[in-house]
Amino acid sequence: MDKMQRFIHLIDLNDYPVSWWKQLLELGHQIRENPENYADACKGKIMGTLFYEPSTRTQMSFQTAMLRLGGTIIGFDNPATSSVAKGENIKDTTKIVSGYADIMVMRHPTAGSVKAAALTAECPVINAGDGGHLHPTQTLTDLMTLSEEKHTLENLTIGLCGDLKNGRTVHSLIKAMSCFKGNKFVLISTEELALPTYMKDILSASGHAYKEVRSLDDAISELDVLYMTRIQRERFASEEEYMAQKGFYILDPAKMVKAKRDMIVLHPLPRVDEIAIDVDDDPRAKYFDQAKYGMFIRMALILTVLNNDGVPAQLVRGRTYPKAKCSNPKCITNQELYLPRYFTGKGDTVTCEYCDERTLL
Ligand code: NCD
Repeated sequence: MDKMQRFIHLIDLNDYPVSWWKQLLELGHQIRENPENYADACKGKIMGTLFYEPSTRTQMSFQTAMLRLGGTIIGFDNPATSSVAKGENIKDTTKIVSGYADIMVMRHPTAGSVKAAALTAECPVINAGDGGHLHPTQTLTDLMTLSEEKHTLENLTIGLCGDLKNGRTVHSLIKAMSCFKGNKFVLISTEELALPTYMKDILSASGHAYKEVRSLDDAISELDVLYMTRIQRERFASEEEYMAQKGFYILDPAKMVKAKRDMIVLHPLPRVDEIAIDVDDDPRAKYFDQAKYGMFIRMALILTVLNNDGVPAQLVRGRTYPKAKCSNPKCITNQELYLPRYFTGKGDTVTCEYCDERTLL
């Protein structure tokens, strides 16, 4: 297989240089200021949205973004109504849809699935969330919110609170913010929902300071940004395990009293109970603005990808090991067995190119 790709697939934001992210943020800003200038920018183009998992904001903001650029949309939001229900694999679905559409946006419950789709796609593929792994366009949304609301991406103390284990938005955001100097991370979670080891290794390798704490009450006063997250019910093995974690963190006006006057609260949404409704009127609550920024940054992304503006990232690195099997049961290579299993690294422990988990050879 030719590993040099023709298309700008967006699987992981960190596959691209920070200069490219900044170009997107600048374009997103321009579009927000003068949306009428872009009304026909994607005229005649078709976007396919393949949502194998529920979505409101991501799906609708992508669709609205394309419509506002003058393009059209096809797709499904319920795999039960597509041939997936008949047992079609990702490779075949992708091959077909990418032959119809000019750009494909995909969300799937399994880690590495969108990269697997991009391997056979005949158009650019955007990762709209692959299991508990990554969510790069939410991160673009978060970066745009930070640049517009805090006017910097550097020297911020960022608290991430809730399900740090399963929250793909958390993983993508930490990877991105560890590329900017001076940021500090306060990881606020229960022991059971702590950030995975491979993510902590990424943080340590970047040289950024981080600490793990249990109490939001104790941590809130030092934060510039508080990123609240939902406990990811659908990723738990049982309802009992979910119920044991639910409701542990609730941001309410009493806690907000302790926060800095210019701290901002973000949340990728949907919220369940982790932010009390009466926090919504606090001017520091920016989560609804954040969702709106998401539409503009996705317009910028669609335009950039369709114009092929950037250097396409290498889709898979490393090599295949004939006997290796990814240790992560939630990795797509353990579900779609025809996939070539790529790993990077030397020695006994290698890293899966689909889901980033470590595997012992
Ligand atoms: C997030 C997701 O799907 O990962 N939602 C979103 O895209 N805005 C967060 C979540 O579902 O908790």
